[in-house]
Amino acid sequence: MSIKLPDIEPKVFPPVTGDQPLSPLQEEILELKEKRNAVILAHNYQIEPIQRIADYLGDSLGLAYAAKETEAETILFCGVHFMAETAKIVNPDKRVLLPDMEAGCSLSDSCPADKLAAWQTANPNVYTVAYINCSAAVKAQSDLICTSGNAVKMVERVPADREILFVPDQNLGSWVARQTNRTMQLWPGSCYAHVMFTAHALEAVRKQFPGAPVIAHPECTEAVRDMSDEVCSTERMIAFCKDSPADKIIVVTETGMIHRLQKEIPDKTFIAGPTDNCACNDCRFMKRNTLEKMRNALRDLSPEITMDEDLRKRAAVPIERMLEWSRT
Ligand code: 13P
Ligand code: SF4
Repeated sequence: MSIKLPDIEPKVFPPVTGDQPLSPLQEEILELKEKRNAVILAHNYQIEPIQRIADYLGDSLGLAYAAKETEAETILFCGVHFMAETAKIVNPDKRVLLPDMEAGCSLSDSCPADKLAAWQTANPNVYTVAYINCSAAVKAQSDLICTSGNAVKMVERVPADREILFVPDQNLGSWVARQTNRTMQLWPGSCYAHVMFTAHALEAVRKQFPGAPVIAHPECTEAVRDMSDEVCSTERMIAFCKDSPADKIIVVTETGMIHRLQKEIPDKTFIAGPTDNCACNDCRFMKRNTLEKMRNALRDLSPEITMDEDLRKRAAVPIERMLEWSRT
C-alpha cells in the first residue's frame, strides 16, 4: 500500500538580482550604531532586513569568535538569548544588547541547570558535553561546549575512557554519536522548529525536484537526516551550496538561512524544507527580533545582558576550551 504524500506547494526561492536601497529605519540603525561605537552580529536565521545591515552574519561558532574578537564598545546581538549570553561570557567588558529578551530557545529550556545538577550528582565522573544552545548555568556545569559546526571534532577530543553525557539536543547528539562511534547518554531535549520537518513531507518535495540535493541541520530527526546529502551547521551549508554543481538545493532548516544563501549564491534556486503542515518553518524565538527593536536597543542601550561574575567565569572555562580546540 502506498502512503499518500502531503499536498503542499513547495516554497521556492529563485535566483536574485540587485539590491534594494536601505529603508529609513535601516539607515537610522546604522547611524545609531556609529554613535554607540557598536557592532551588529546576526545569526543566519534573522529576517532579511536585519541580515542586510549586520557587520557579521554567521552560525553560533562564528558568532562566538566574532563576539570575542570585536573591539567595538557595544555588541548588538541579533540572535537568541544563549548566543548573546555567550558573547558576554567571552567578552565581558563589552555591553551586549539583545533586541528582545524573550528571544529564547526550546533546546535551552529543555535542560534546566538544577535537573542537570541532579543527574550529574547521581552519575559522578561523567564528562558533560553541552551544545552551545543552553543557559550560562548549564555551561558552567559542563566540561566542554560544542556547536553544530564543531560537535564531531569536540567529541573526538574527549578522553576515550570517559563516559559522555551530551546535552541538551538528542538529535545532534545521536548524529555525533554515529559520526564518532562514541556511545553517549543523550539528554532528551530537541529543537521544536527542526523536529517539525518530516521525512514524509520531504519525500513529497524531493519528488518535485528530482536531482536536487538535500541539506539538513543536525537538529533534524534521524529520519530527515538519513534522507539528506549533507548534514551540517548553517555556516557549512554556504560552502556546500557554493561547491555543489546543482542549481537547485532543498534546505531543511529555518527559513532565514535561505536569505543568507541567496546573498552568497544569488544564481541558485533554494527550496525550503517542508513540515507536514507548511512549506517552510521559522523559529518563533529568532523571529522576535525586528528592526524597530534593534533601533530601540541602540537608542536606549537596553535590553542588556548582565551576569553574575562568578557564573560568567565558570561558564567561560568550557567555552574557551571549545574555542581553542576548534581552531586546531
Ligand atoms: P548553527 O550554529 O548551525 O547556526 O545553529 C544554531 C541554531 O540554533 C540552530 O537551530
Ligand atoms: Fe533554538 Fe531551535 Fe530556534 Fe535554534 S531554531 S534557536 S535550536 S528553538
